[in-house]
Amino acid sequence: MHFEFTEEQIAVRDAAREFTQTELLPGVIERDTEAKFPHEQIKKMGELGFMGMMVDPKYNGGGMDTISYVLAMEEISKIDASASVSMSVNNSLVCWGLEKYGTEEQKQKYLTRLASGEILGAFCLSEPEAGSDATSQKTSAELKGDHYVLNGTKNWITNGSSASVYLVIAQTDATKGHKGISVFIIEKGWEGFVIGKKEDKLGIRGSDTHSLMFSDVKVPVAKRIGEEGFGFTFAMETLNGGRIGIAAQALGIASGAYELALAYSKERKAFGKPISQHQAIQFKLADMATQIEAARMLVLKAAWLKDQGQDYSLASAMAKLYASEVAMQVTVEAVQVHGGYGYVKEYHVERLMRDAKITQIYEGTSEIQKIVISRSILR
Ligand code: CAA
Repeated sequence: MHFEFTEEQIAVRDAAREFTQTELLPGVIERDTEAKFPHEQIKKMGELGFMGMMVDPKYNGGGMDTISYVLAMEEISKIDASASVSMSVNNSLVCWGLEKYGTEEQKQKYLTRLASGEILGAFCLSEPEAGSDATSQKTSAELKGDHYVLNGTKNWITNGSSASVYLVIAQTDATKGHKGISVFIIEKGWEGFVIGKKEDKLGIRGSDTHSLMFSDVKVPVAKRIGEEGFGFTFAMETLNGGRIGIAAQALGIASGAYELALAYSKERKAFGKPISQHQAIQFKLADMATQIEAARMLVLKAAWLKDQGQDYSLASAMAKLYASEVAMQVTVEAVQVHGGYGYVKEYHVERLMRDAKITQIYEGTSEIQKIVISRSILR
């Protein structure tokens, strides 16, 4: 076992760290307060290669490994989880699926621009009545000659209005259950495709989460990814990797809050000494550091398995489950260490606490991860 990073991985992590200080930290509180999407920052992340990190360079990607990706995700999430969710969705839910299962034509047309960060992608699985129960898709795609006719509504879509390309999961044969589900590429602006309301959220307020409506949208057969009926497997396989990204995001939120609490504890004095010299605070810091380290090991293990070409579905579910629980616990404690200051925006930890909550919900709730884990260990 090797617990060291390569020089390349360290360079990626350091570049991400520097970027967060110069480009993401300024204005992060305002973007959260005003629910403002970080357009400029995401554009720069594309220029630096963060939007298609693992994609083959022949499609404009960075050709990096998953370890580098999670290191960058952790750094960016320490400062701005709204930016990192866009990055995660673009990298692991959109680029990955297109690269693995798209046709050459689809890759040339879409992947090359998504991987370079020129455009953003969205992954559209959830519906008003199909969140955890993802097989209950109501969105339908009916084959009519050389095209499908798409109808339905998608909910809680990350990059909802800022994306240009949408991977949409839809039912093509309702009699076949999950084997009757397919996946299509839809472009913004196609007739009948309407971007619905933006959600007013508790956390990751800088990210644009929308509902999407499809009304008799004509989708050429050539925009289907894989065979008809492949859509559910596509979604599940894509989410196996997506969960590594969200686990890394949760890890970043936790470590960001911990670093702030640690620094604050050395500055803030109470009862004649820095609060870091009180055991009540020391024990909190010890618990936080230990939980974060354990979460980091799970995240890196899942990334490593993926890089080795081994099955990572169990590891990614464990990493996401644990890292998101740690993110919630650590951010709550970081607010507590800050006392009254922790409850105001200026000190960042209240935002991180609000941001942490979503990591227990999207890309499969903690309860769904437990289903994935228990099915795997009982198989
Ligand atoms: N990897 C690969 N294949 C999988 C899989 C996995 N993790 N989980 C299930 N499958 C396959 C099964 O093997 C099965 O295939 P076969 O019939 O060919 O054997 C098929 O999928 C159906 O599986 P199940 O019978 O287990 O289906 P189920 O109805 O019991 O549901 C579930 C399984 C795990 C609960 C699934 O519905 C699920 O993961 N739900 C959560 C959905 C989710 O994560 N949504 C997140 C939305 S995306 C998002 O949040 C993005 C964003 O914008 C941030």
